[in-house]
Amino acid sequence: MSIPVHVGIIMDGNGRWAQKRGLPRTAGHKKGAENLKKVLNAARKIGVKVVTLYAFSSENWARPKEEVDTLMNMFREYLKNDIQDLIKEGVRVSFIGERERFDYDLQEQMNLIESKTKDLNSFHVVLALSYGARGDILKAVKTIAKKVEQGVLKSNEIDMFQFSSHLSTVGIPDPDLIIRTSGESRVSNFLLWELAYAEFYFTPVLWPDFNEEEFEKAIKDFELRQRRFGKV
Ligand code: IPE
Ligand code: IPE
Ligand code: MG
Repeated sequence: MSIPVHVGIIMDGNGRWAQKRGLPRTAGHKKGAENLKKVLNAARKIGVKVVTLYAFSSENWARPKEEVDTLMNMFREYLKNDIQDLIKEGVRVSFIGERERFDYDLQEQMNLIESKTKDLNSFHVVLALSYGARGDILKAVKTIAKKVEQGVLKSNEIDMFQFSSHLSTVGIPDPDLIIRTSGESRVSNFLLWELAYAEFYFTPVLWPDFNEEEFEKAIKDFELRQRRFGKV
């Protein structure tokens, strides 16, 4: 079996990593962000084309204000530094999620990064920030309903292809492999429509400890799988 084109990663376990060491949760987030560079490098080296990173869910706004504030400042720094390094290396970076919920400067940064890198195609990093698949699906439904109301689309023209083209993941191939760290075996509102035929890899390793070797292990495991796509 070939290597996955698109890998989605639910980067979970930062809080527990810190807790185990008697550190504040935010120390886990910091270590987790540092880890990202290594994993992205490994993915690129292996030949993966797209990596979608679940960094902050729509539901994560409900966390204590102090934690949310720290995460926002970390995103700010990440966009300013690490992402700029990726851009220099020719990486395309885009964002999915409720961009309008972020402070204006962050929204501006995201728009700028996206437009600057939109034509790069060797490697694509998608950051899911304030993302929730149910919300994304509902937004698509509302847009489609409006088009039908306005008479620009007929209800019998709505097929899977039409529908997908209204999701924030438009133009990105469906994920082949979804990795979730930290021992939880759930999807937590990540890419629900898109993951219909994805393979899953759940590992007890906490995200800050999930290094290149762990990523390679996930890819090797994937390579042994027999894929099915709903056909006989
Ligand atoms: C994942 O780690 C990072 C974010 C959701 C921002 P968690 O913060 O969920 O860590 P645990 O699950 O509490 O260990
Ligand atoms: C999922 O992790 C979201 C991200 C990793 C960004 P959570 O820790 O927020 O999910 P639950 O609460 O365990 O389902
Ligand atoms: Mg968690």
